[in-house]
Amino acid sequence: MTESLQRQLLELEQFGLSNDGAITDRPRRMLNITRDTGEFLSVLVRAMNAQRVLEIGTSNGYSTLWLALAAKAVKGHVTTVELSEFKLALAAKNFERSGLAQFITQVSGEAGTLLRDSPESSFDVVFLDSERSEYLGWWPDIKRVLRKGGLLVVDNARSHSAEMAPFVALVSADYEFTTCTVPVGNGEFLATRIFP
Ligand SMILES: C[S@@+](CC[C@H](N)C(=O)[O-])C[C@H]1O[C@@H](n2cnc3c(N)ncnc32)[C@H](O)[C@@H]1O
Repeated sequence: MTESLQRQLLELEQFGLSNDGAITDRPRRMLNITRDTGEFLSVLVRAMNAQRVLEIGTSNGYSTLWLALAAKAVKGHVTTVELSEFKLALAAKNFERSGLAQFITQVSGEAGTLLRDSPESSFDVVFLDSERSEYLGWWPDIKRVLRKGGLLVVDNARSHSAEMAPFVALVSADYEFTTCTVPVGNGEFLATRIFP
């Protein structure tokens, strides 16, 4: 990682903490993943040699930068979707500054629509970090767009375990997936689509 990207990530971490500590209005909070989650995602994308990464919930792009750094290393690409115009603009600036913009496609809109419009098996890795009440409804399309052998990673599996429980139960009961939860950051729920 370049020194300037390292500096930018540290600045974003500090900004996220101070902003979210001072602001209660949820749409204005950054709600970023933790640094160790970023490192974890970066390792997973590289280990999967993931060419096509989908992130649901960009915010200001902190997690996207970790995904894009790894995607660059394996000649892959990250598509990230966000519906807040305010956050889309912050993320666009962050991507430009990082030098990783060419590895990122920003989608402005509703994740459910993007998922519905995406072809079958169009992603190797899906990182889900968005409105948890939507996850159950999105599941059929997440499953459809994830290729066999692909990996779903979901944030907040431990910090919001009660909210996540119905989704975790649904995916864990699906015979096409092998799942686990790891104690990284706010808890990451992992589900890999097994080959039949
Ligand atoms: C937890 S934050 C994402 C944080 C980001 N992954 C990071 O770590 O830097 C969740 C984001 O999902 C966005 N969001 C919520 N519902 C959405 C939807 N239906 N479609 C697209 N984005 C959505 C919110 O505006 C918010 O920015």
